[in-house]
Amino acid sequence: MSDTHEPEGTRRDFIYYATAGASAVAAGGAGWGLVNQMNPSADVRALSSIRVDISGVEQGTQLTVKWLGKPVFIRRRTQEEIDEARAVAVADLVDPVDRNANKPGLPATDENRSLDESGEWLVMMGVCTHLGCVPLGDGAGEFGGWFCPCHGSHYDTSGRIRKGPAPENLPVPVASFVDETTIQLG
Ligand code: FES
Repeated sequence: MSDTHEPEGTRRDFIYYATAGASAVAAGGAGWGLVNQMNPSADVRALSSIRVDISGVEQGTQLTVKWLGKPVFIRRRTQEEIDEARAVAVADLVDPVDRNANKPGLPATDENRSLDESGEWLVMMGVCTHLGCVPLGDGAGEFGGWFCPCHGSHYDTSGRIRKGPAPENLPVPVASFVDETTIQLG
């Protein structure tokens, strides 16, 4: 039944489509980062700021939205995920000072990366910092956060790179609360 002449990319594509779930950006998400890095276009830049309704996001789940042509993960974390992220020493991180657009130049502690003080909300670009694939979420990988199957990069519950070829943490974009149920990106 199996086709030995199947193109190499097929299995990987399948992983993306099969695991993207209810993501608003599921279809075709795999190549976004890479494609858009190489080919930014005027229409992608047009919506430099968007508002996202987070009222329907349950704890322990993630909403994925498209912003500036790229996926953005908005995760409402469980206390367990928060505690795990906050127990990590900065000295143990691969990328200890990340490019956090909200708090540039500060250590990549979970307190600095999360959107609210309690740490319940975490907003990050859903683009692997290795070559731009979209990492899998919902506790994927060896550190319970996100996993990029393209070349095996493991991110922790704060989206920080912990193992694999990716050099940097998942970037935190400019984000803020407009009200209790609305987050603005940009
Ligand atoms: S693109 Fe994610 S590990 Fe290579």
